[in-house]
Amino acid sequence: MAKKTIHDLPAESIRGKRALVRVDFNVPLDEHGHVSDDTRIRAALPSIESLLDAGACVVLLSHLGRPKGKPEPKYSLQPVARRLGELLPKRSISFVETTDTDEALKATYDLKPGQVLLLENTRFLGGEEKNDERLARALAQLGDFFVNDAFGAAHRAHASTEGIARHLKPAVAGFLMEKELNYLHGALEHPERPFVAILGGSKISGKIDVIEALLPKVDGLLIGGAMACTFYKAMDLETGKSLVEPDRIDMARSLLERGGPRITLPHDATVAPSIAEGAAAKVVGREHIPAEMAMLDIGPRTSESYARAIASAKTILWNGPMGVFETPPFDKGTRAIADAMAAATGKGATTIVGGGDSAAAVEQAGLAPKMSHVSTGGGASLEFLEGKTLPGVAILDDK
Ligand code: 3PG
Repeated sequence: MAKKTIHDLPAESIRGKRALVRVDFNVPLDEHGHVSDDTRIRAALPSIESLLDAGACVVLLSHLGRPKGKPEPKYSLQPVARRLGELLPKRSISFVETTDTDEALKATYDLKPGQVLLLENTRFLGGEEKNDERLARALAQLGDFFVNDAFGAAHRAHASTEGIARHLKPAVAGFLMEKELNYLHGALEHPERPFVAILGGSKISGKIDVIEALLPKVDGLLIGGAMACTFYKAMDLETGKSLVEPDRIDMARSLLERGGPRITLPHDATVAPSIAEGAAAKVVGREHIPAEMAMLDIGPRTSESYARAIASAKTILWNGPMGVFETPPFDKGTRAIADAMAAATGKGATTIVGGGDSAAAVEQAGLAPKMSHVSTGGGASLEFLEGKTLPGVAILDDK
């Protein structure tokens, strides 16, 4: 069901009000404690700026990392506040270090229209991950209406994502949330065909539900990554030292039977004795993986045929790298998929990259702007593709 967004709020319910906005500022920090990838912060700016322009003050809530319900300095949002200040140089951005919700409440009342206040990591609060009712009520006091723009955390039923929206209305989606849902929902429910999905990653276990959910919807499912080897095992092929999940072989066999020609496995593989021994890498047909080697990337013949499949599709969804893309030469397959998708976008196809590793690979290749959409949610986009309800979305006001 479609959810209300910031656009559905009348001007008078924004002007002069405290907009309480849940964002996903769970971003990587480098060894000096600086934000090393601000994609998620930039992705939330349209909602923040639109609310400020409409005369609200903005109170931001986010988690960072996985502290266990009490303050841990290395997970402070202070560096994020600094980066946000750099991204919005004309705005007043303040940061409240406290985990005392009463003190935070006072700070929200001191805000003037056009000002932004970032509160400290919600996971420093004991009740956050338990979705504690009292905490949710206390957080709900921090704004006059609620905007959830944290797609990346929407699969978590936490006090700041789900609980809060029970107590603070209106509760609407932000622009990032809306964009994520539109692209992912659009691909699943009314894709322009042919609709091709590319799934990679090391383990089939984490992708089983996605494969099951996508199989009836796609025209083709292209498999890559070490996950292909569990399928190879199901086909009685030699997989050498490749990562195989023995307890998933039957499942892989059943998927191959049900998927028939819609499932394509790599025809060739780039193999090496180990990741560290890239110099010894070679390309072999999938029937010839040597016993002392592991498949660490798809081979060039596979890259070419997957690129052709991508070029002839109108909707392409990609989740999971084709190999150990962080370590050349095992990045070639992943790079080939990213290049083919970028070219497909240029020819009018809709290209969607799931969050996590594949988003990182596309960023690394500098191709993110050439995709129709790169999701900011890793776990959240996977759960969405699996057909699961995202609690942080379900609780928002319906249109
Ligand atoms: C993510 O990085 O995928 C989200 O911010 C959710 O984080 P979590 O897996 O720690 O809940």
